[in-house]
Amino acid sequence: MQSYSAESYGEAIAAVFDVVNDNPEEVASIVGFLQGYVGDGPVLEAGVGTGRIALPLAETGVELYAVDISQDMVDQLLAKPGADKLTVVVGNMNDVDFGKQFSLVYLAQGTFGALLTADAQRQFLQGARKQLTDDGRLVIETMEVDDTRFSHDQYVTTSLLDVTHVVLSAAIREPAEQLLSIQNVLLTPHGIQLYPVKFRYYTATELDEMAAEAGLRLLERYSDWDSAAYSPGDLRHISVYGLA
Ligand SMILES: C[S@@+](CC[C@H](N)C(=O)[O-])C[C@H]1O[C@@H](n2cnc3c(N)ncnc32)[C@H](O)[C@@H]1O
Repeated sequence: MQSYSAESYGEAIAAVFDVVNDNPEEVASIVGFLQGYVGDGPVLEAGVGTGRIALPLAETGVELYAVDISQDMVDQLLAKPGADKLTVVVGNMNDVDFGKQFSLVYLAQGTFGALLTADAQRQFLQGARKQLTDDGRLVIETMEVDDTRFSHDQYVTTSLLDVTHVVLSAAIREPAEQLLSIQNVLLTPHGIQLYPVKFRYYTATELDEMAAEAGLRLLERYSDWDSAAYSPGDLRHISVYGLA
């Protein structure tokens, strides 16, 4: 996807991110899960977005720091009640250093994959390792790609369809680089909106290997935020790492 940058995702989706992610039950599960790992704080969310998770987590009394590369996403966050309880910086998660030791660092949805090279992903893990307290935890949610969807490294799916809306997702992958580019196209009688996203996909095994290189050890892995058991091959996983 030519001319896609790390800011492109937020620029396009910021205004509707909360609408398409309106799932209070899931947010309650995520916050409940993370509360089990916050320790004494402080806590860092990398790729905080509109504060879907950080705001309710901070409400529980956690000292929360956050970084996001998209000014548009952060503007949405800052407009919400409770934003003043967070320390939020606009920047690349691999560059921003709060000068803190965190008891929990977490990334939700496909945010870790937004780092588009293996080197950038390794760099993040090494940085997180250095910023964790001795008993700190790193939690990463992953959505692996579904190989069955592809034909000739492409697919088109329909994710919403009614009388006045259709959302088509057109995807192309570059297997050598493990890159997936998706253009989500919303068609309505009023026009067309485009919501692009690009990420570097990886398996649980590769994530564990990169984490081990960074001095991190897998402690637990679940298939959802309600701590459902993970089975190898599950496309979604929540991984909890500690210092090796
Ligand atoms: C899928 S959204 C998830 C937002 C939030 N974590 C949530 O679960 O609601 C991914 C976020 O990561 C941000 N992002 C992407 N690349 C980034 C980078 N290199 N550094 C910091 N933030 C980044 C995007 O701007 C976007 O807000």
